[in-house]
Amino acid sequence: MDILKVTGPTPLRGDVQVPGAKNAISKLLTASMLTSERCVFSNAPAIGDTRVTQEICQSLGAKILEDDPRLLIAQTKDITHVEVPENLAQQNRLSVMMLAPLLHRAGKAIIPAAGGDRIGVRPVDFHLDGYRKMGANITEKDGVYIAETDQLKGAEITLAYPSVTTTENLLMAAVLANGRTFIHNAAIEPEIMDLVFFLQKMGAIIDYQIDRTFIIEGVDTLSGALHEVIPDRLVAESFAVAAIASKGDLFVRGAQQADLLTFLNTLRRVGGNFDIETDGIRFYHKNDLTSIALETAVHPGFMTDWHPPFAVLLTQAEGISVIHETVFEDRLTYVPQLQKMGADIAIYDQCLGTGNCRYHTTNSQHSALIKGPTPLHGTDITIPDLRAGFTYLLAAIIAKGETTIRGVDELDRGYESIDEALSNAGANIIREKE
Ligand code: EPU
Repeated sequence: MDILKVTGPTPLRGDVQVPGAKNAISKLLTASMLTSERCVFSNAPAIGDTRVTQEICQSLGAKILEDDPRLLIAQTKDITHVEVPENLAQQNRLSVMMLAPLLHRAGKAIIPAAGGDRIGVRPVDFHLDGYRKMGANITEKDGVYIAETDQLKGAEITLAYPSVTTTENLLMAAVLANGRTFIHNAAIEPEIMDLVFFLQKMGAIIDYQIDRTFIIEGVDTLSGALHEVIPDRLVAESFAVAAIASKGDLFVRGAQQADLLTFLNTLRRVGGNFDIETDGIRFYHKNDLTSIALETAVHPGFMTDWHPPFAVLLTQAEGISVIHETVFEDRLTYVPQLQKMGADIAIYDQCLGTGNCRYHTTNSQHSALIKGPTPLHGTDITIPDLRAGFTYLLAAIIAKGETTIRGVDELDRGYESIDEALSNAGANIIREKE
């Protein structure tokens, strides 16, 4: 197991590159299995999650060539297996997305319950309800779903909550279904739109309305296509926050204003500085930071994955900040180890936001008060989930003394060579084997 030893504090200065989006490539590779033709993806991120997704696709019949780690050539001439291997299903949230290629091309799918970050209960009921409405017969035995159908058919589906992967999964079901599908209360995150654009290149017909309804007209077949993966707006935000929290100055190459609009507004409100340029955004620290109240939401709101690194920034802001997490009920599990580093954060099960969210009566600790500015100090910490991983790395960079970070595999799942990128920007990070 790798560990990171970080000695701080150090300001981050220089250039960093945003790789392709983790939450786009995994769905694009899945979509490539809807056709027997060749699909080519450029700007694929070389991260653990891409490798796991490749392995899941390959276990079902896909052949994926890596010309270089960022150029993936995927082709699934035939579906060779209809069961996602249990060990792979546990490693990310992708297995349930395999319903689409397996049902369309083999009429059957056997899917063990999904793994992924432990940031909430994360059920798959919306996915299964949607597929059932589209004519799939799905049974469950010992945590394994068995789905069968002769042909998926168009349906009218209203999501109880605008779930990202459910929207993507049902889009992939609908593009080859018989007839027209309506997905109401859908999510419209940029990664979803990236999938929509790729599916359109493949021959799909997908409209969407401003009330977040997708209308999909099923077609008979899809063809291969070329696609460049969008830059990862979660990594872009991580770099941006790191530049300012470390009192540094980073040019984040590939950061896109359109995908970061709400984050940039929030950053400006706390006193963070940025200049938008054609090939990226420069983030820099110039003045003291002020506290803020923020609430996470589905796109175009302040996204849930942006909040943990932002919490570190708020430990350095003057006053009391409020975070109300409304998407995942257990996202604040990163807090106790930040407290160990000196952060003054209190967590609450109440909704400390503009109104009550779905977790109002669940006793979930989903709101936080952060008092700052507070000096942080090095200690030994273990990463509980991917975004908490970057959060701890950032806390260690601005903390005084040495921090040892364990559970680095989680971080490597979503951040490409992150210790190298930040070391090049001045951080003092050593990777060791334990
Ligand atoms: N939900 C249900 N039932 C379902 C599906 C979702 O109740 O069948 C609930 C969830 O429990 C949650 C809410 O709906 O409370 C929203 O979950 P969503 O389905 O949108 O999340 P996800 O699709 O599982 C994706 C990203 C996450 C990101 C969220 C929110 C992928 C692989 N994962 O998760 O990314 O936080 O959307 O934007 O796309 C990460 O990259 O670190 C990460 C966790």
